[in-house]
Amino acid sequence: MKRYDERMTATRLSIDADRLYASLDALGRIGAYQDEHSGLVGVRRLALTAEDGAGRRHVVEQMRALGLSVTIDRIGNVYARREGRDPRAKPVLMGSHIDSVATAGRFDGCLGVLGGLEVVRTLDEAKRATRRPIVVAFFTEEEGARFSTDMLGSAVAARRIALDKAWALTDRAGKTVKGELEAIGFLGDAPVELDPPHAYVECHIEQGPMLRAANVDLGVVTGVQAIAWHELVITGRSAHAGTTPMELRRDPGVAAARIQLYLRAMVLSKRYTKQLRATVGVTQYLPGLVNVVPNRVHTTVNIRHPDDAVLKRALDELVAFYATIAKEERVEVQHKVTARTPNIAFAPRVQELVAKHATARGLSQQRIVSGAGHDAQEMAAVCPAGMVFVPGEYEGISHNPREFSTKEQCANGVNVMLDVVVELAEEEGV
Ligand code: GLV
Ligand code: MN
Ligand code: MN
Repeated sequence: MKRYDERMTATRLSIDADRLYASLDALGRIGAYQDEHSGLVGVRRLALTAEDGAGRRHVVEQMRALGLSVTIDRIGNVYARREGRDPRAKPVLMGSHIDSVATAGRFDGCLGVLGGLEVVRTLDEAKRATRRPIVVAFFTEEEGARFSTDMLGSAVAARRIALDKAWALTDRAGKTVKGELEAIGFLGDAPVELDPPHAYVECHIEQGPMLRAANVDLGVVTGVQAIAWHELVITGRSAHAGTTPMELRRDPGVAAARIQLYLRAMVLSKRYTKQLRATVGVTQYLPGLVNVVPNRVHTTVNIRHPDDAVLKRALDELVAFYATIAKEERVEVQHKVTARTPNIAFAPRVQELVAKHATARGLSQQRIVSGAGHDAQEMAAVCPAGMVFVPGEYEGISHNPREFSTKEQCANGVNVMLDVVVELAEEEGV
């Protein structure tokens, strides 16, 4: 007779695609807003706002309804655990985030979390036990859109960012992470340092055009590119717009514009293998009046490259340009590094499992490096980690209400995550 765990991996379960999609819709209604640019309904659940609090309570309710034991740590990461047959064995973790940018769709992050819960639901319905416990997590402020640092909760769990530093980060209104965690009732008391799980798997939309253009069902994610974010304060002198001769001006607006154009030239340059991506997402002119030369500009730079060594060279050049511009425009340029992560590679074994199970389900696939940052890259520092990417329609547009993946695309990704988790959860050892 076959051993119990051999029999368990022998039958392939499948998730309920309708149920998964309905759960994405339901969470997407929390923080829904009318987007004036696209005319579509988008999602706005910036981290630790009231909307995020409501989204969190909605997901925690589902976790409890599944009989999972829920733990909230001191940075507000939430873990829901399904026990395994062997209480000493380390768990397999699935996770992602439910916070969003201010102009989001309903898939980014949510697919990984709700997909994780759908995996648990599917196992429960089939009365299938696993040797290892299974944990579904959502991490705090993955986006970095409110407190300026991405992957915040998972970085604290992985010990890359100290809890005190994370707590002290502020949003534009000066509100702190710690205060906002308290305000929404998610300042938990569990220690933040994550006990290394056996492995980590995250299903996420690609958020780019490649998989759809290649007409493949899934992406096997090989790693994540290197990322750097700067916040700049450029200070000059306000003056009359009509009377101040150009040569007497100290205009931080001109300095900001020149930095943006310089980035554009860097991106197009062969020096950076044409793989550099740079974005200026915020530029705020103060005092912001039509007839006053500004005295201050707040702006941001977001720059990424698949190779950290190349990104480092680009950053050196950029920072040198900040000094040049300060001199030439007679302004002060201060920059703060708000996010910086190197490129990371996912565990080959997890990649192989994703590829193997996709093939077993008859799904076509492509290896892909993630252009976006993900909690999985933080988890990769503590355990073997990997990701399954789901293609997106409309050129895979994301961070936009138009973000859309079909029911089938989502189900394919979560089914492969289910297979990978079931296999990992039967593995021997502690
Ligand atoms: C997270 O979405 C990022 O900016 O990569
Ligand atoms: Mn995401
Ligand atoms: Mn995102």
